[in-house]
Amino acid sequence: MKTVPVNLGSRSYDIHVGHGILDRIGTTYVDLGLGAKAAIVTNPTVAALYLNPVQRSLEAAGIDTSVVTVPDGEEYKTLETVATIQGELIQAGLDRTSCVVTLGGGVIGDMAGFCAATYMRGIDFVQIPTTLEAQVDASVGGKTAVDHAQGKNMVGAFHQPKLVLIDTETLMSLPKRDVRSGLAEVIKHGLIRDQELTDFLCDRMEQVAELEIEAEDLDWLIAKNCEIKAGVVEADETEKGLREILNYGHTIGHAIESASGFRLRHGEAIALGMMAEAKIAVDKGVCGTDTMDLQNQLISRTGGLGGWDDRVQDNQVIELMASDKKAREGVIRFVLLGGVGQTVHSDDVSADEIATSLQYVRETAS
Ligand code: NAD
Ligand code: GLY
Repeated sequence: MKTVPVNLGSRSYDIHVGHGILDRIGTTYVDLGLGAKAAIVTNPTVAALYLNPVQRSLEAAGIDTSVVTVPDGEEYKTLETVATIQGELIQAGLDRTSCVVTLGGGVIGDMAGFCAATYMRGIDFVQIPTTLEAQVDASVGGKTAVDHAQGKNMVGAFHQPKLVLIDTETLMSLPKRDVRSGLAEVIKHGLIRDQELTDFLCDRMEQVAELEIEAEDLDWLIAKNCEIKAGVVEADETEKGLREILNYGHTIGHAIESASGFRLRHGEAIALGMMAEAKIAVDKGVCGTDTMDLQNQLISRTGGLGGWDDRVQDNQVIELMASDKKAREGVIRFVLLGGVGQTVHSDDVSADEIATSLQYVRETAS
């Protein structure tokens, strides 16, 4: 098992990464001195696969455990579902010393994390992420949120977990489409921050996309991504500056995701956003075509990312970008790639440049 520390002073925590470690949650939880009452928040898909070992382990460690199950899907990541969950937490008698345990992908982690951030003005929570997206990104860094009719992740809070426990074996039951979607963030982490990760992906992308790598290598890959993200979060917990680099590909990607009516997975849209934003960087002379080609080849080699959705309209994407919460005082902010491990901020990207980049992606998309 590998441990990645996230050093945030009094809000510090560890991320444990290993295979077959779900049943260690009880002892790890108790070692941290977390509350005697816990509520596991999950959905029926994940509960059928992984609830038993998690609940048994907590109960065997003497924790009074209840379970809250919410419907599966981004469309349920809402304030209405939060109210339902919090009602069940009250019903189960959770108090200020209790703890929420999230068990699932990024939707469950973000939403149950937000419940923990706001229940009785904030209680502890533990993340057990079970998708690639959640293991390499969503469970790390304390961003919790739900969607609003007027925008994704519009209502949320920074609330760091007390522990993240990542069992990489859970990825084996994940649909291939979700594995590939999660790879967009993995490619992003390498490009914005880490040559070693990029080299690993260049060597082994096809095997990674099929999860046909040794368990130790998979653990290394997940821990590496957590280390990269933790390093950024430690330097800028609440996104005043450096943390914005994690939004590479997201300024256009989020708008593409919305314009697709959420038919595209988050990572599928982000991969298209990275392709568009790399084109903008090349056209501005910030980035070489060699870096853009390397990125686009990695995306294509996943065997599932980089496909355009013909229902996405360019003008809709541009309009949606203006209302993105990454815009500050009406100015749309971009993180552009300068080369592997190099990023440049720009708030000087015109609608014409965005339109040209979207046309390029449509023509390039496989
Ligand atoms: P998701 O949570 O919807 O999970 C995808 C699907 O996989 C769901 O149907 C889920 O039930 C199922 N699933 C989960 N684990 C499984 C397993 N081990 N085996 C089989 N099926 C499994 O989607 P996601 O891609 O994990 O997360 C996307 C969400 O994460 C979005 O809401 C996004 O906004 C959020 N996110 C948050 C952050 C952050 O920093 N907080 C970062 C990235 C993404
Ligand atoms: N997923 C972007 C962030 O955590 O800042």
